[in-house]
Amino acid sequence: MCGIVGYIGGKKASSILVDGLKRLEYRGYDSWGIAAMGNKKLSYAKKVGRISQSGDLAKIGGNIGIGHTRWATHGGVSNKNAHPHFDCSKKFVVVHNGIIENFAGLKKQLISEGHKFESDTDTEVLAHLVEKYYDGDLKEAVRRALLEVDGTYGIAVMSTMEPDKIVAAKHGSPLIIGIGDDENFVASDATALMPYTKKVIYPEDNELVEITKDGFCTVTIDDKKVDRKVQEIDWEQGLAEKNDYPHFMLKEIFEQPQVVRNALAGRVIPTEGLAHLGGLNMSPEELLKVKRIVFVACGTAYYAGMVGKYMIEECASIPCEVEFASELRYKRILFDKDSLVLVVSQSGETADTIAAMKEIQRKGIKVLGISNVVGSTIARETDGGVFIHAGPEIGVASTKAFVGQITALAILALEFGRLKNLSFMEGKRIAEELKKIPEKIQKILDQSDKIEEIAGKYLNHDNFLYLGRRFNFPIALEGALKLKEISYVHAEAYSAGEMKHGPIALIDENFPSIFIVPKDSVYDKTISNMEEIRARKGKILMVTTEGNLDVEKYVDDVVYIPETLEMLEPLLTVIPMQLLAYYIAAMKGRDIDKPRNLAKSVTVE
Ligand code: AGP
Repeated sequence: MCGIVGYIGGKKASSILVDGLKRLEYRGYDSWGIAAMGNKKLSYAKKVGRISQSGDLAKIGGNIGIGHTRWATHGGVSNKNAHPHFDCSKKFVVVHNGIIENFAGLKKQLISEGHKFESDTDTEVLAHLVEKYYDGDLKEAVRRALLEVDGTYGIAVMSTMEPDKIVAAKHGSPLIIGIGDDENFVASDATALMPYTKKVIYPEDNELVEITKDGFCTVTIDDKKVDRKVQEIDWEQGLAEKNDYPHFMLKEIFEQPQVVRNALAGRVIPTEGLAHLGGLNMSPEELLKVKRIVFVACGTAYYAGMVGKYMIEECASIPCEVEFASELRYKRILFDKDSLVLVVSQSGETADTIAAMKEIQRKGIKVLGISNVVGSTIARETDGGVFIHAGPEIGVASTKAFVGQITALAILALEFGRLKNLSFMEGKRIAEELKKIPEKIQKILDQSDKIEEIAGKYLNHDNFLYLGRRFNFPIALEGALKLKEISYVHAEAYSAGEMKHGPIALIDENFPSIFIVPKDSVYDKTISNMEEIRARKGKILMVTTEGNLDVEKYVDDVVYIPETLEMLEPLLTVIPMQLLAYYIAAMKGRDIDKPRNLAKSVTVE
């Protein structure tokens, strides 16, 4: 989704903007632009396509500037619609993330007042509104402009009239201010600031920040001064580099043993069979009062919620539901104050998830977050929660965050379970087994060459069916999503038992099935489903538990995973799904880290 970077200090702004925008490339974009000022002179460049150090950039001098990567919403993908946008006199420059919902009415009004528009975007109205209200104070003009606006925004504005400042503001879209020595930054995402500073402030919704080279000042949209504390980001720069991996996605897949260790650290006590998540901010008494748990999320995070549902129902017998955030906001909310809502979001900035969270909070229901990004909107605006500590996930296709989310949910299931149903021995077994997961994931990663070879055999198929039952049904869904996202090959997933109720009609020798069938409580039933496919000459790639050698005569290909507890299988079975999708996409030459049409964090509803 769109990205923002702004800089003010002593260095060449355009270099920092381009570097920052490149760090935000993973969010997805279709065009980009920067504007910078020196000696009150404004220069800019806007382009469709990927950011490159083109000749145009050399002429963009100055020590203050703003830049943007655009993911088109209003108006097609073109140079004129790329940000920054300007007022009529090109004195005011704006970059914007979000959507101005009442832009059509505002534009009509501004045109009737004589303003000339150059683009089809909603954003351009902001530049003209600032021009309209400017009376010697840029911050005040931005504030007055924003009072007219409905919708969401993270913006950065600068002006040749006041070339020593950037004004940034936020409502419903992410925004962060980076604090340096004699230089300051603004960005939509901390990743852009990593090489420059770890000190940041997080403005809240309806706040404006005036940023100069040596300070900042924050006010509300009602012009009341607010104090925002400077905080430290603890991510290490090295984590956002690709090192020797061809893609971030592959690097992130291989980081997963460490991701599980990070998520478990200090939270599980195997000798006692206990787990404790301090960030929940809930006492055992409060936890015991929970009668229902509702997971709210989108995409991969939704599938993590599905795994969480199975885990918590299994360990603690608390009824759970999983809701698409994009649907929940538009239906009646039929749970109450005995319910606990868990919003799951890697980025903590997904607009649908934030909107659903706010709607639930409005009803006085407790909401906790499971997120990877410290300081994200969800992390800040929930009543507590769990950080998965997976480090920055750059590849658009989520991998390590999913494994981190499931690990956090397993810990939560253990904590709830030990308060309720689980015996000491059962708790001990889960805790001990959780600790062994990293080395078991490593054993699967060590088979990556074999999975790459298998990927080569399936490369030319245009359709895939992914099947699993119980804990592995969400993994079938996740496997199909991964393949679709990065290879653009059609894949769909079903609970294996549902296959005979319709999708079986698709099966022939050209429609392979990926069966996720570890040796567990539903093994025999799933094998019967596999027989139904075999009888129709469908090719089968099976993921099963090591030692299950008999299957080799029935299926076309097998990937073995180490044995574990049934509830923890998803932490292992998802690894071959990720690698299979990765290698098929790589062999097809896809843009794996930035697949077409996708954005890393979807910040529009
Ligand atoms: C996963 O590979 C996706 N790109 C996407 O489904 C993602 O999981 C979804 O948009 C939710 O994102 P979040 O976890 O940052 O909220």
